[in-house]
Amino acid sequence: MSPSRRKLVVGNWKMHGTHAANEALLEALKSAGPLPSDVAVCAPHPYLAQAAERLARSAIGWGAQDCSAHEQGAYTGEVSAAMLADFGCRYCLVGHSERRALHAESDQLVADKAQAALARGITPIVCVGETLREREAGETEAVVKRQLSAVIHTLGHCAGEMVVAYEPVWAIGTGRTATPEQAQAVHALLRAQLHAATPRAAQMKLLYGGSVKPDNAGVLFAQPDIDGGLIGGASLKATDFLAICRAGAH
Ligand code: PGA
Repeated sequence: MSPSRRKLVVGNWKMHGTHAANEALLEALKSAGPLPSDVAVCAPHPYLAQAAERLARSAIGWGAQDCSAHEQGAYTGEVSAAMLADFGCRYCLVGHSERRALHAESDQLVADKAQAALARGITPIVCVGETLREREAGETEAVVKRQLSAVIHTLGHCAGEMVVAYEPVWAIGTGRTATPEQAQAVHALLRAQLHAATPRAAQMKLLYGGSVKPDNAGVLFAQPDIDGGLIGGASLKATDFLAICRAGAH
């Protein structure tokens, strides 16, 4: 593990939460005291203001789960990166597999969203990952490289500013996590691809996501190219999420 890469653990709340439930969760995270990893939560858009307010004087960052690729205009229902930046959003997930699958987001649209976020000073967390069919067909490497390459080309010399999250689609919400070896193998490929594109590759954070839980986070995060996690289900329970954040210390 490179000592220069502090772990980053990001909660992806997906479409979960209520004002009251978020209040309890954010309070528990805030009162946990110093954590050995950088930590952030990505909340649904209506709750971003709540996250911003509750986390204002804490070390915990917050982010959105998506943004528009457009600056502004007649795009009903969309939220621009400028709007997110307007009240201090630090991170934005882009290209989560649920958006790629359910909203037909293409590699290029994901890249454009990453660029829109970066242009407003928001760190895009770019998600890549293969489906089970693609893995079984031996296409994992080609798929993740294709997904990352679209973003690298669009961001150009700013590619080193993104965070990358490898999330095998078959491991998301299924309880079936990639083995540390499987995850590390893909992370090493992605790191090599980034090395060819940016001098910042060695400092960039590559997160693993897909059924990360308190009992498997430590061994996943101990892999040389895994710099933390993108956590779905387990990020909704303060004790589990905090245990995962602490696993970054080992
Ligand atoms: P999971 O989700 O931890 O519930 O598998 C991860 C994600 O989709 O980001």
